[in-house]
Amino acid sequence: MFKKTSWKPNDSESKHLPIYRHKTKLVQAVEDSTFLLVTGETGSGKTTQLPQYLHEAGFCKNGKVGITQPRRVAAITVAQRVAQEMKCTLGREVGYQVRFDDCTSQDTAVKYMTDGCLLREVLADPALSQYSVVILDEVHERSLNTDILLGLLKNIFSNPSKATRGRAFPLKVVVMSATMETDKLSAFLSSCPVFAIPGRVFPVTCTFGSAVGPKDAESTFYVKEVVKVALDVHTGEKAGDILVFLTGQSEIERACDLMFEKAECIDYRYDVRDRTVEGLLILPLYGSMPTDQQRQIFQPPPPGIRKCVVATNIAATSLTINGIKYIVDSGFVKQLSHNSRVGMDVLEVVPISKSEAQQRAGRAGRTSAGKCFRIYTEEFWEKCMPEYTVPEIQRTSLTAVVLTLKCLSVHDVIRFPYLDRPEERFILEALKQLYQFDAIDRRGGVTKLGELMVEFPLHPGLTRALLRAASLGCQDLLLPVAAMLSVENIFIRPGHPDKQKEADKKHRALAAKTGGMNDFATLLSVFQLCKSSDRPSAWCKDNWIHWRALKSAFSVETQLREILVRLQQRKDFPVETFVGNKSELLRRCLCTGYFTNVARRSVGKVFCTMDGHGSMVHIHPASSLFDQEADLNWIVFHDVLVTSRVYVRTVCPIRYEWVKDLLPKLHEVDVYELSSVAREEVTDEEVTKWETREAAKRQQEVSAEDVR
Ligand code: CDP
Ligand code: MG
Repeated sequence: MFKKTSWKPNDSESKHLPIYRHKTKLVQAVEDSTFLLVTGETGSGKTTQLPQYLHEAGFCKNGKVGITQPRRVAAITVAQRVAQEMKCTLGREVGYQVRFDDCTSQDTAVKYMTDGCLLREVLADPALSQYSVVILDEVHERSLNTDILLGLLKNIFSNPSKATRGRAFPLKVVVMSATMETDKLSAFLSSCPVFAIPGRVFPVTCTFGSAVGPKDAESTFYVKEVVKVALDVHTGEKAGDILVFLTGQSEIERACDLMFEKAECIDYRYDVRDRTVEGLLILPLYGSMPTDQQRQIFQPPPPGIRKCVVATNIAATSLTINGIKYIVDSGFVKQLSHNSRVGMDVLEVVPISKSEAQQRAGRAGRTSAGKCFRIYTEEFWEKCMPEYTVPEIQRTSLTAVVLTLKCLSVHDVIRFPYLDRPEERFILEALKQLYQFDAIDRRGGVTKLGELMVEFPLHPGLTRALLRAASLGCQDLLLPVAAMLSVENIFIRPGHPDKQKEADKKHRALAAKTGGMNDFATLLSVFQLCKSSDRPSAWCKDNWIHWRALKSAFSVETQLREILVRLQQRKDFPVETFVGNKSELLRRCLCTGYFTNVARRSVGKVFCTMDGHGSMVHIHPASSLFDQEADLNWIVFHDVLVTSRVYVRTVCPIRYEWVKDLLPKLHEVDVYELSSVAREEVTDEEVTKWETREAAKRQQEVSAEDVR
């Protein structure tokens, strides 16, 4: 797939980057060592330039130069930029691959990709034989997949015979990072050489605000406050662009609307201190934004216009925007963390760490002195902000990663070389879940089902449901649902209250088409209705549905179907027959994957989860089951949102009989036993002993459940 690019960058631009002076030495350093750590301030040119230098020096003759990024937007925009600099069509010599979007071809020599994509490639080809150089970029971000790749590559190279097996020439590994944790990284990679690119940073003056104090750690009014501060900067400070750090798409859209409204009222003859400033250009920047809009971010604003970019954390290190002189820092970030209150991963808005705040401030000092306006108090900084951000591996579910490791024959997932070891209970939790999904057996070995599951870039529960559907021959019910759950929210929520009512009405009507009692079925129905419509984009507009999101869902569905068709050709693909009501089929398949997310009505509108945590949850107001009283005793849900309450979203009612046999699985495994299995091979005798004991325990649990 090729994508046309129009704008041509100025050739000499890249020669002014700090990395340029070190070109020859840097290429030599890659040549000379197996592992190389390259560090330098963000914006020094590591991501965009080094791959080009290696290409120029002939490294691509033996294979591709692959560069990983933790964020998909970074992979895409950087590839675009490099394609422009190399004057080629994106997808030819320079391409990118992110989950569900492959823009590469046979000619691709420089490939940007997400770390998740490279991890999948390692599964298919552990020697990475297509590559001459692999660059792990943004390692300081400490994303889960990058951390795992680091461990895997370290593993390979600690064993020279492994490192050359299946390869015609040795692989070079470059690890790139901002200037944090350099010593620790080098030590981890067997004291590999470090190439530090000296960069110049200008001073940034930081001021604290008075709006967000220690008591506001959960408040949402920071959106209004950042808008106010950004506009104060616009009217009160000298020319120079503004970068605002916010939390996520909806907050950013809200802030941009609000800022736009207020900026309309500025009278540039009187209100603005710097008379050369004649207007404000407001640009949002978040992960799921359309790519043409993303490109605008990097272009200089027209003369007299001040640019204000309102971004997620993506602008902290992954992307560098030139011309930024002022930072407005909300002090918060949206982050996926394991929430022990509900026992699963949830997206939460949390205070950033002090080191993150410093990184954000630093973005104002790239080309001249800058200013950073923090909307929070100094007390908030002292009391609410941790020193460092906890790496993702220590705060999220490891289920998918542990399965990947096991499929790569890393049997002992506890003693794997982690840069920062996750708590053992997280590893045990992952093993337990995999066992519950039948992806591993009691010896911790990957099952046939596990081998199939690892092929899907989806949450293991969703994959399990999809595979169950496929074994029953009803994949057409589950593929669209899986696709719809893999793209951004498809329902438009307009800001204006009247429009909001109109959208709600349309959405309710769509839910009613399937009986109004199953959010998964609504997703399926929206997918099918739109697909069969003559004018799908008009249909979406009419029904307040994001056409862009649906278009990606169509493409994701096709890709998932391709994976499934490939797997179904295997002789051992499971086949089952189903006796019973056809209309139950979708919900029963969902139960197979989501039995870990079952809840039972407790009192009134409160449900209680059945996974041993017994969390009290509410149905989210956006669900078609919200406020439904009748006949709703058991439900399964897709995910959880924690605000002042714990909400479950995308819900459907089920019958107890469907999960009766599955629920005991939630309690049957003794995680410590699984861990000893993970650590060493156990004898058959031990396993039998253990199984007998477990079976007895299970019998007890089931009878206890019956009584309830
Ligand atoms: O990786 P590192 O942070 O060291 O720097 P980089 O991402 O290679 O950025 C080098 C320069 O390219 C910066 O001045 C960016 O503003 C610019 N750039 C751009 O204009 N458009 C992009 N899509 C990416 C980078
Ligand atoms: Mg970079």
